[in-house]
Amino acid sequence: MTVLYTDIRELVTNDPTHGDGDPLGIIADAALVVEDSEIVWLGRRAEAPDADDRVSCADTSVIPGFVDSHTHLVFAGERSAEFAARMSGQPYGAGGIASTVAATRAADDATLLAGVGRLADELVGAGVTTFECKSGYGLTVDDEARSLRIAAAVTDETTFLGAHVVPAEFRDHRAAYIDLVTGPMLAACAPHARWVDVFCDRGAFDVDEARHILRSGMAAGLTPRLHAGQLGPSAGIRLAVDLGAASVDHCTYATDDDVDALAGAADTTVATLLPGAEFSTRARYPDAKRLIDAGTTVALATDCNPGSSFTTSMPFCIAVAVRDMNFTPAQALWAATAGGARALRRDDVGVLAVGRRADFVRLDAPSYLHLAYRPGVPLVRDVVKAGQHVPNSYQKLESRS
Ligand code: NIG
Ligand code: FE
Repeated sequence: MTVLYTDIRELVTNDPTHGDGDPLGIIADAALVVEDSEIVWLGRRAEAPDADDRVSCADTSVIPGFVDSHTHLVFAGERSAEFAARMSGQPYGAGGIASTVAATRAADDATLLAGVGRLADELVGAGVTTFECKSGYGLTVDDEARSLRIAAAVTDETTFLGAHVVPAEFRDHRAAYIDLVTGPMLAACAPHARWVDVFCDRGAFDVDEARHILRSGMAAGLTPRLHAGQLGPSAGIRLAVDLGAASVDHCTYATDDDVDALAGAADTTVATLLPGAEFSTRARYPDAKRLIDAGTTVALATDCNPGSSFTTSMPFCIAVAVRDMNFTPAQALWAATAGGARALRRDDVGVLAVGRRADFVRLDAPSYLHLAYRPGVPLVRDVVKAGQHVPNSYQKLESRS
């Protein structure tokens, strides 16, 4: 069964062989043909082949589905009071994580699964067709393993983050907690995870601890990624490069040496920026222009979590990234699609080309520029994931009633 999507005013492919050589590879007056879950043709609509079915995109724009390479969706409870306190001047610290850990441990599987499902629906509804999801609010062997089992219900991109913080019961026994993470917890979690991550920052884990934990994860067959440089300068950024991590996330306080190291590792290690975290913690923003001009590969992700960034909206992240992080609109869209795919080492998504997965989003706008130009406006109109239309939340509500 083939479907022709036509009347596309502006098709963003992320394939620079189209258009004027720009990374977005834009085709004007375009069409694309999907067969089952794959793209089998794309180009100018006047040249489109016949197909079994035909969908008009009504002279609007189509972009690749967003690839969100950093989320923490498995948790119970919420921390709006902590957010309000921050907006009245309290600083953000790793300490708030403990309250989510307590609520998560106390929750049953069904509650956690329902929460993950709701957030996954929000992500997809906002145009995210691939996303990563971390553990990290269980911090016992059983609670981390069940967090990953629950994450695996909504994505294959699961990350073991037993080293999120040292939990209260180990406060005076740090080394014992790290032994637990690298021993029994890793053994229980590795079968359910693709990635291993550490929160390497003030109040969480230092760079030597992070190195040991990531190496242990690698020895168990997981690929490293790292949180570093969110709360202050961190040797973690350099560590991520040295270990060949797929991504180092936050990078808010990257030094010139860090930027040079990331640029030298642009084919291996992506710098993932998380605008929702700076927005929601009222922190300073990293300068994307500095990273991109140096040659670093940059991704944008939501960091959806109940503490520092409780958003599932990639369009919101793009708008903030353009307004406050020195991205051009084109760089921000690339980072939220192809950049995210690079951060997850995926070559089947993030780019619209023949043979790639048919993951795309129709915007109710003549150009992708409207994602930043019309902040806060829900422009994501249709989401197609692996060739299937995802019902939007309004349709879902109707079908539930
Ligand atoms: O990526 N920085 C560490 N982890 C999350 C925040 C977790 C929380 O505050 O609950 C982050 O921002
Ligand atoms: Fe995070």
